[in-house]
Amino acid sequence: MTNQHYHPKILGFLCNWCCYTAADSAGVGRYQYPPNLRVIRIMCTGRLDPSFPLEALASGADGVFVGGCHPGECHYQDGNYHALISAALVHEILARLGVSSERFLIDWASAAEGPNFVKIITSFTGQVAQLGPLGFAEKIPAESLRAKLNHAAEAAKERKLRTGLINASREMFKAGDFSRTTIAQLVQAKCEKALEEMDSL
Ligand code: FES
Repeated sequence: MTNQHYHPKILGFLCNWCCYTAADSAGVGRYQYPPNLRVIRIMCTGRLDPSFPLEALASGADGVFVGGCHPGECHYQDGNYHALISAALVHEILARLGVSSERFLIDWASAAEGPNFVKIITSFTGQVAQLGPLGFAEKIPAESLRAKLNHAAEAAKERKLRTGLINASREMFKAGDFSRTTIAQLVQAKCEKALEEMDSL
């Protein structure tokens, strides 16, 4: 199989107020973008539960995209900052499982940015196509990865990891530093113990 001919399955969680409308306007404007995206509309990226992308990958998606309002423009004030915390946990878990972090992306496009949405999703689809189906780039049997992803999705619903995320959110707002690097470090620090327990199971 050559990866450039692979048509990946992409699942998108799109915020109703921005990315979903951007995707809609891109369609109305007849902008071309890969037909690989299947969309779940959510009212805000703050609704994103970290278990969702893990379950999606475990269930057959090759890549997961989360699209929201630009930082500072969330219709529910700070839902997209909370989504960055959840996304950092997803990236951390993927890394621990040996799944390429390029299979998961969170990014922003306002309702008026149809062309920007097209650019983001075209680039992400190409990136996932290069990786091939789950397990191909990772050189790990897909069945084994799916089982681990399912297990991680269950762990992500449990109190210990949730508490870690709440603490990471508190620290993020207190420090007022919303860079992805800082958020990733906060999530690692606050969830480390629960993640170690997850690794050992
Ligand atoms: Fe769009 Fe919150 S309303 S990210």
